Amino acid sequence: MVLCEGRRPTLRRLGRRLGARLLPGDVVCLQGELGAGKTFLAQALALGAGVPRSVRVTSPTFALVQEYSGRLAFHHADLYRLGGPEELRELGLFERAEDGVLVLEWPERCGPWVPEGALWLTLEIVEPFTRRVTARGTGQRVERLLTPSPDGAR
Ligand SMILES: Nc1ncnc2c1ncn2[C@@H]1O[C@H](COP(=O)(O)OP(=O)(O)O)[C@@H](O)[C@H]1O
Ligand SMILES: [Mg+2]
Repeated sequence: MVLCEGRRPTLRRLGRRLGARLLPGDVVCLQGELGAGKTFLAQALALGAGVPRSVRVTSPTFALVQEYSGRLAFHHADLYRLGGPEELRELGLFERAEDGVLVLEWPERCGPWVPEGALWLTLEIVEPFTRRVTARGTGQRVERLLTPSPDGAR
């Protein structure tokens, strides 16, 4: 399902809307090549989840995962440099998510360990400044996150 296609403001709006709907235990997986806009969207999700604008949400490439506080605990992970399943276990990534939300770049690196009920968003570069965001996933969490607001906007 295509959620949106557009320039930065369009993706920012999507991220803020989704971010505002996040509840503890939600996992959002962001797929897409380098430069697709995963970190950009994660920043918008953080804003929507109440992380103050003054807090810089950057790609946590070296720490792999970084926690911010907003309306709830906001965990942002980038598994690009994940070594393997052993390191994933040590990170305790999905246990952390239980007290808040987890936004995950390069979720493919987790193999089969991504929780069921995660929302998967794929970002594609359509044009230099245009991205398309597609959603998939099943379950009540995904349904809640993707239910349009009363104003009809996603
Ligand atoms: N429509 C768009 N949506 C998101 N980012 C865009 C868009 N157009 C251009 N960009 C730029 O693309 C880059 C995406 O970088 P980033 O979010 O770090 O990608 P990733 O984390 O997927 O590697 C940013 O420099 C951003 O400004
Ligand atoms: Mg990134």
